[in-house]
Amino acid sequence: MAQPTLSDSVYDALYRELVELEQKFPDLVTPDSPTQRVGATPAGQFSTVAHRLPLYSLENAFDYGEMQAWQERSRRLVGDLTYTCELKIDGAALALSYEYGVLVRVATRGDGTQGEEITANGRTIRSIPLRLHLDNPPPWLEVRGEAFMPLNVFEQLNHARITAAEPPFANPRNAVAGTLRQLDAKVVSQRHLDFFAYTLHLPPEFALGRQSEMLDFLSAIGFRVNPHRQVCKDLAAVQAYYDHWQTARHDLPYLTDGTVIKVDDLELQARLGFTQKFPRWAIAWKYPALELPTRLLAVTIQVGRTGALTPVAELEPVQLAGTKVSRATLHNRDRLASLDLHLGDQVIIRKAGEIIPEVVGVIPELRPIGAVAVTMPDHCPECGSVVQKLDQEAVTRCLNPTCPAIVRGSIRHWVSRDALDIQGLGEKIIYQLVETGLVQTIADLYRLELGQLFQLERLGEKSATKILEAIARSKQQPWSRVIYGLGIRHVGAVNAVILAEHFPSLDLIAAANLEAIAAIHGIGIEIAQAVIQWFSLPQNQALIAQLSALGITTRQTQPTHPPQNRLLEGKTLVITGTFTRLSREQLQQLIKDQGGKVSASVSSKTDYVLVGQNPGSKLTKAENLGIPCVHEPELDQFFHIEEL
Ligand code: IVH
Repeated sequence: MAQPTLSDSVYDALYRELVELEQKFPDLVTPDSPTQRVGATPAGQFSTVAHRLPLYSLENAFDYGEMQAWQERSRRLVGDLTYTCELKIDGAALALSYEYGVLVRVATRGDGTQGEEITANGRTIRSIPLRLHLDNPPPWLEVRGEAFMPLNVFEQLNHARITAAEPPFANPRNAVAGTLRQLDAKVVSQRHLDFFAYTLHLPPEFALGRQSEMLDFLSAIGFRVNPHRQVCKDLAAVQAYYDHWQTARHDLPYLTDGTVIKVDDLELQARLGFTQKFPRWAIAWKYPALELPTRLLAVTIQVGRTGALTPVAELEPVQLAGTKVSRATLHNRDRLASLDLHLGDQVIIRKAGEIIPEVVGVIPELRPIGAVAVTMPDHCPECGSVVQKLDQEAVTRCLNPTCPAIVRGSIRHWVSRDALDIQGLGEKIIYQLVETGLVQTIADLYRLELGQLFQLERLGEKSATKILEAIARSKQQPWSRVIYGLGIRHVGAVNAVILAEHFPSLDLIAAANLEAIAAIHGIGIEIAQAVIQWFSLPQNQALIAQLSALGITTRQTQPTHPPQNRLLEGKTLVITGTFTRLSREQLQQLIKDQGGKVSASVSSKTDYVLVGQNPGSKLTKAENLGIPCVHEPELDQFFHIEEL
């Protein structure tokens, strides 16, 4: 099987761990260790050259606080500052020497003072001009910039290598470094490397005033300069640039791993100067890693309110994109099987946006000897009943309606903010209520008495009274919330509102036939089947009779209101295309009810674009700007995100 390609951050994290281990146990360093690869090209293959001026690397910042500290230090030395922000291109630095406007030498960064002379290879990169567009070129001039491999080239190259049974490159940066050290310039030329220039060193009489002018000048004399540069007058503007590109970078055809912030005034740059290792006038604000490796300690099984068994990876905790992650979802049986997990494996976890972390891969090469394979259980871990594993479904289910996990899940759903919104009934109390048998169905909540709540651990009279009041108040909640709270499959917040508008009471839904439900605009056959199926179960019929008898709203008493969870507070949304399940007006109302604003056109200020059928140019624009797009099938999840 082809060796999987590790993402940059996963490779880096493993490499760092190896370096630390080798420092601790130097006797264990083997000649084939990846750390021994550095400088592995036999000496003499490329000649060494001393750089006219050293190539520094950049200090890293990882959050706004570190950026503020950097600004404070610089301000103390030279006063107020304006910045140029550039994308930090993930490739390899090159130093290009020109004499009287003609390219005479290309060198790698090396250790910063000496690099390798790779002129023949550098000359194959088309965006490195062999002759500059300059009328009176100076006797010498040096340009620095980043050689990089566009992502499509990287993918093609790795594909070809895998086909030829050669090991693929771990990431585009390694591919660039490997390519530049090729002995045959023809091979380099076939690899289609590219180059962005970012610094220019000139004899003193040519001096320019600002970094931003320098970049424009580089472009004017024939270099490719990254177009996404921006002058920022303060740190707030820098942050806006950083935030924008943290998302928008995913649409670029090359990799960037951060923002480089440089003091714009070159005279101030000179006054700020350098520390031992870094310029004081520039800093790299790195994006947090979204993918990291960690060790799989165990796999636990969660049983949800629908009886679905979700395998969850219990992990050695790692810091990932700002939070400590110790659990990640493995989704379902199919995903678990395709990962072929073993206890003790190094797994790759990923966090995308605000979504819960997931396990996206495993590194089988690092599997401990004798490790035990992880499989889905045949019995429900909560109630012990045999689970259902249908071939056509990836989901494994517990079918026991009295399974405590299912009961807990249905109570949790009923009391949640979007449903009956009963406050004070947290996870621990629900657990005890079900465990002690006080609550076996939703209806039992309405039969609870103060004395019974008192028996629960750590529940005082005041909290118990409050809970009972909240339960009593919930009887007046609008009718659509009751439909939603029942937890019928496929009936999320949106569908509950649609059903409530068509059926003024629970009895009328119960009496409706499949065709009548499926004919409702926005419902359709799959949802209608789920509704019919739910009402056909005797325990559910008993439940609605009890709810009705206990005084819970089971009919239309006032205009329906969709859930007020205000998940979209302060967000701007744009709608494009037509929706089969909802009218434009209903969708706009839902957004407003959740605190969001609807805007007519897409801009960098748009937070989400809701995409129906036959979307217009708004979708293309959103994709170009990297704005998250929500398609119609994802609407339920979007308006009500269920937790792991
Ligand atoms: S400025 C003294 N600008 O990031 C100034 N570097 O550790 C040094 N890089 O080695 C570099 N994009 O290879 C600068 N727009 C950019 C850059 C950039 C990528 C690389 C460069 C450097 C490393 C920083």
